[in-house]
Amino acid sequence: YGTMGVNELGNLEIGGCDTVELTKQFGTPLYVYDIELIRNRARSFLRTFKNLQINGQVAYASKAFSTIAILEIMNEEGLSLDVVSGGELYTALKANFPTEKIHFHGNNKSYPELEMAIDCNIGCIVVDNFYELGLVDEICKRKNKQANILLRVTPGIEAHTHEYILTGQEDSKFGFDLQNGQAKEALQKSLELSTVNVLGVHCHIGSQIFETRGFIIAIEKIYDHLINWKTDLQYEPKILNVGGGFGIRYTDSDHPMEPENYVEAIIHEVSKQVETHNLLMPEIWIEPGRSLVGDAGTTLYTIGSQKEVPDVRHYVSVDGGMSDNIRPALYQAKYEAIIANKVLEATEETVSIAGKACESGDMLIWDIALPKAEAGDVLAVFCTGAYGYSMASNYNRLPRPAVVFVEQGHAKLVVKRETYEDLIKLDLSLQEVVKK
Ligand code: LLP
Repeated sequence: YGTMGVNELGNLEIGGCDTVELTKQFGTPLYVYDIELIRNRARSFLRTFKNLQINGQVAYASKAFSTIAILEIMNEEGLSLDVVSGGELYTALKANFPTEKIHFHGNNKSYPELEMAIDCNIGCIVVDNFYELGLVDEICKRKNKQANILLRVTPGIEAHTHEYILTGQEDSKFGFDLQNGQAKEALQKSLELSTVNVLGVHCHIGSQIFETRGFIIAIEKIYDHLINWKTDLQYEPKILNVGGGFGIRYTDSDHPMEPENYVEAIIHEVSKQVETHNLLMPEIWIEPGRSLVGDAGTTLYTIGSQKEVPDVRHYVSVDGGMSDNIRPALYQAKYEAIIANKVLEATEETVSIAGKACESGDMLIWDIALPKAEAGDVLAVFCTGAYGYSMASNYNRLPRPAVVFVEQGHAKLVVKRETYEDLIKLDLSLQEVVKK
């Protein structure tokens, strides 16, 4: 786990900072990010492209965790950025992310969102459907501009963890289907428009993928069509974006590959296709989210009440839960945890970690062996860096936790803890409504 260690007090350390001290300084629940680990991951993705002498872009999928500070780190490391909404784009603009390196995704981008993207000269819009193509054309005409676009295609493959599913008849809300000619029609239409410049093709086959096979099959399928597009439409893509989805290790039962192994396999397959069919080698773009930030994040909670159900279960409750990590409740996601102030103590009992929301389903971890837990102990849940904060809610009017970046012994508060005042700041009382 990156820069994690144990100090002389037996406390968990991340980035050279004592996590128990962090909880005293910033309170709990607290998301702590190991920035050195994120930098190393970013660098190893970039190095893989460089070593294989392939032109490409590594775009951080900011849906995994979007805040101004993390986007500043990604920019420092030379990554590009994938945004999926006006809100994510706004965050990127506020982080001064170079707009030419931002890619805009989404299956239902609104007119104002597209306008915002075109106004800031965004690097490219990943066009998802015919309606959107029409909107982009209209906005560009009105503003006398041209937009760079990628066409999102659905190759009829869904990959998750070990399985990938070939779906002959694609049933997905995203993208233009390759199989039924939709994608070719979209390309033909786009090529006729003077308002767009078709840089290439995009596909994304799934998330938390442990094997390279799904990517390879998707690339094969795309090339089956690219050969035909070259013959019929004299079109060859300058860019092939294969999306993200590289898996990470949440628990011992996860066996992902090293991030760079996915990239090597992808580059190898594209090179093979290009040679076989005598096509141009495109730039290869990838969009990792989880694999850049997932295992760099740890959530620190304070342990409170406990309940023993004799012979059945021992519940240990923490001061957060589904409001800061919806993944166990939503996906039955599994996590590992330790007591951060008792790292060197032997495990004593098997307990289940409950969140504090008023819902029986708010359980963070079922059956985990821990040292004897007492009120006031700090529980550290690992690998919460992706889709934790970004999917957090105010359910039960729980304020969202603070986020701290740790690196080389320094801790920086990068997102403040929400206050009760924040929780009601958009509310209007009936009295005010009457007045207006
Ligand atoms: N590119 C596109 C077009 C995507 O839709 C996604 C994720 C990514 C890149 C980044 O995928 P990653 O490298 O992070 O796997 N909330 C779910 C994950 C949803 C992923 C949606 N799309 C979770 O918590 O597991």
